[in-house]
Amino acid sequence: MRWKKKEKQLPPSTGPLIRLENLVKIYDTGALKVLGLKKINLTIERGEFVAIMGHSGSGKSTLMNILGCLDRPTLGHYYLDGVDTAGMTPDQLSDIRNRKIGFVFQSFNLISRTSALKNVELPMTYARISRSRRTERAKELLTRVGLGGRMNHLPNELSGGQRQRVAIARALANEPPLLLADEPTGNLDTASSIEIMELFTQLHREGTTVVLVTHEEDIAAFAKRIIRFGDGQIQSDRIHHPVWDMEAGFQAEKGGIRPC
Ligand SMILES: Nc1ncnc2c1ncn2[C@@H]1O[C@H](COP(=O)(O)OP(=O)(O)O)[C@@H](O)[C@H]1O
Ligand SMILES: [Mg+2]
Repeated sequence: MRWKKKEKQLPPSTGPLIRLENLVKIYDTGALKVLGLKKINLTIERGEFVAIMGHSGSGKSTLMNILGCLDRPTLGHYYLDGVDTAGMTPDQLSDIRNRKIGFVFQSFNLISRTSALKNVELPMTYARISRSRRTERAKELLTRVGLGGRMNHLPNELSGGQRQRVAIARALANEPPLLLADEPTGNLDTASSIEIMELFTQLHREGTTVVLVTHEEDIAAFAKRIIRFGDGQIQSDRIHHPVWDMEAGFQAEKGGIRPC
């Protein structure tokens, strides 16, 4: 298969997965220019599990849109997997989104009139993966997120937590190195939120880089690094030792501060 051959020829990726260099985002609304992000410098290594926090208007969504290649910085550079996205055309950005980034949204964003299986297959259609391989992989992914018995259900036949599991399976369809989630538990009850965070934890432990935005301290507490935003800038960037990690035998060493 052409696609598989192409994948095999790629050299192994090294260096940080994300590097932001003096990144500035200015929204030009005509009469007014709004500074969304002010000279952000940030590095996220492969395999990190990061929570982004901050009050409303602090720049979290602006950052996620740039990390997700949905928007471009006004100034500065965003290196994703070693490649500068600043000069990319919309087509190149959409290609990089499809191959390198999985998105999980607060409102799930599933296609309502199609099954869980077809929802997970969709990104693989864009990546031109054969029908039989798509179905096989979508089944594997739904089983992995605990929905092996619900593959043919429509989104409205699933609970909120189950819908978010489908969305996570869909985000993983093209095996992206980066998983971005904007308030993934914002529409879920506490029990489902914990299940979803356990799933992100499992994915992180399997090597996926996870970056999520949340308002809730209890949700951020699952992550191993917590970055707080305020007024378009990074206010703090701390290593965190989640309970699940301590259980795994790591020593608690609260509050290590990273330079930012
Ligand atoms: N499309 C836009 N046009 C103009 N200003 C915007 C736009 N999106 C965000 N902003 C402004 O940028 C700043 C950061 O917003 P945002 O990233 O949405 O914050 P958060 O997600 O933390 O609530 C705010 O001052 C907001 O008003
Ligand atoms: Mg926001």
